[in-house]
Amino acid sequence: MLEQLKKKFQDRTVQAGVVGLGYVGLPLAVEFAKEGIHVTGIDLDSRKTEAIGAGRSYIQDVATESLAPLVASGMLRATTDFSIIRELDTINICVPTPLRKTKDPDMSFIDAASREIAKHLHPGMLIILESTTYPGTTDEMLLPILEDASGLKVGVDFFVCFSPERVDPGNPNFHTKNIPKVVGGITPACTEAGAAFYGMALDTVVPVGSTRVAEMVKLLENTFRMINIGLVNELAIMCDRMGINVWEVIDAAKTKPFGFMAFYPGPGLGGHCIPVDPYYLSWKTKQAGIEARFIELAGYINGQMPHFVVDKIQNALNDHTKPLKGSHVHILGVAYKRDIDDVRESPALDIIHLLQARGARVTYSDPYVKKCRIESTGELTAQDPLEMAATSDCVVCVTDHVVFDYAAVLEKAILIVDTRNAFKKFTSSKVVAL
Ligand SMILES: NC(=O)c1ccc[n+]([C@@H]2O[C@H](COP(=O)([O-])OP(=O)(O)OC[C@H]3O[C@@H](n4cnc5c(N)ncnc54)[C@H](O)[C@@H]3O)[C@@H](O)[C@H]2O)c1
Repeated sequence: MLEQLKKKFQDRTVQAGVVGLGYVGLPLAVEFAKEGIHVTGIDLDSRKTEAIGAGRSYIQDVATESLAPLVASGMLRATTDFSIIRELDTINICVPTPLRKTKDPDMSFIDAASREIAKHLHPGMLIILESTTYPGTTDEMLLPILEDASGLKVGVDFFVCFSPERVDPGNPNFHTKNIPKVVGGITPACTEAGAAFYGMALDTVVPVGSTRVAEMVKLLENTFRMINIGLVNELAIMCDRMGINVWEVIDAAKTKPFGFMAFYPGPGLGGHCIPVDPYYLSWKTKQAGIEARFIELAGYINGQMPHFVVDKIQNALNDHTKPLKGSHVHILGVAYKRDIDDVRESPALDIIHLLQARGARVTYSDPYVKKCRIESTGELTAQDPLEMAATSDCVVCVTDHVVFDYAAVLEKAILIVDTRNAFKKFTSSKVVAL
């Protein structure tokens, strides 16, 4: 079975499938199609499959100009119909893994996708889970669903791997093709199949000894970021109390050529990964009787940052003899990070909610986010940043998109609270840095 599958990889006759066509799944599907591999995307959301069918991208990192020819030439197609799996040799599962309100993993998407795949699993297939999850998901959850429904034996009749997705939306230097791909299989044959599969389209493949190692790699990477950001956020709070500019401290510290890596404070964590993934690890370790104390502590500190920012805004307005209640606060940037259009878990949403709860009138501008929904008060529409800078009592830079005209905002605003050090190059008493 393995040799047959590898032969299909070698001569590019493999029929590849991607389940879940979001920020991770669509770029992956496009990368393989670009390499001359037939790819079928499957998603429950018919708006996405129809957009792909029409050659239109809905993901910022995938240009419509690169997607459309792949669809026109038949290299890439998309459907909501899982029965197409009967025609496919490989499946990459890229469905969401959010947290429940209790911060427990929500495994319902992986469960639902696995059950649909299991109905159509056939000998010779390779199934790779890419969704970020706790160690053990692939062998404890995915594998039994696949084996029980099909009667097939892993490592013999079909192959199963885990490969963490490391894509960094908006990163101009690293993308699906040139980010090294870690892959671990249930058996050595599974790892070999997975490595050969990625080797067709990606620059570097890093095989590891098991699915659990591969699952843990991703959690180490994101927990490392979350904890270091927590540390530097706490340092920012300390520096604020002591009247020290934390940004200057970090810039000087990073001149040390070894043993230090710069992380920066900010208004709080956002996105589908850093604020979420470490809790998959802490949930799992609790079952083994181990408390993941670093994760809990960093999560607490990072979760306090929107409150810290709102206090900072209130104090800055106070210095201008204005109460927060009734003041017009304009938020510059609501995406969870620079130059992307994603507001999932964005701290801007918390900050807006907290400001509104204290009686402020809040507007926002963001070239990538035309509308945003605030849980308590409903939808806001993006405004013009310069008009708002000229009329608001305080501008708060939450997301430092490159396209903002910072010099013009500074000229028009009377007060700026800068949570990203975006106004670093200007020396102005109008700017209050985090
Ligand atoms: N976005 C990132 O930057 C990033 C980076 C690395 C890893 N990840 C991980 O990758 C996984 C996917 O994240 P994403 O950002 O692409 O999510 P996303 O929400 O953008 O996309 C997921 C897609 O899966 C579809 N889907 C949901 N259930 C399905 C099902 N049962 N069958 C078929 N399709 C289904 C949804 O309609 C959606 O289109 C998550 O585990 C995430 O943690 C994300």
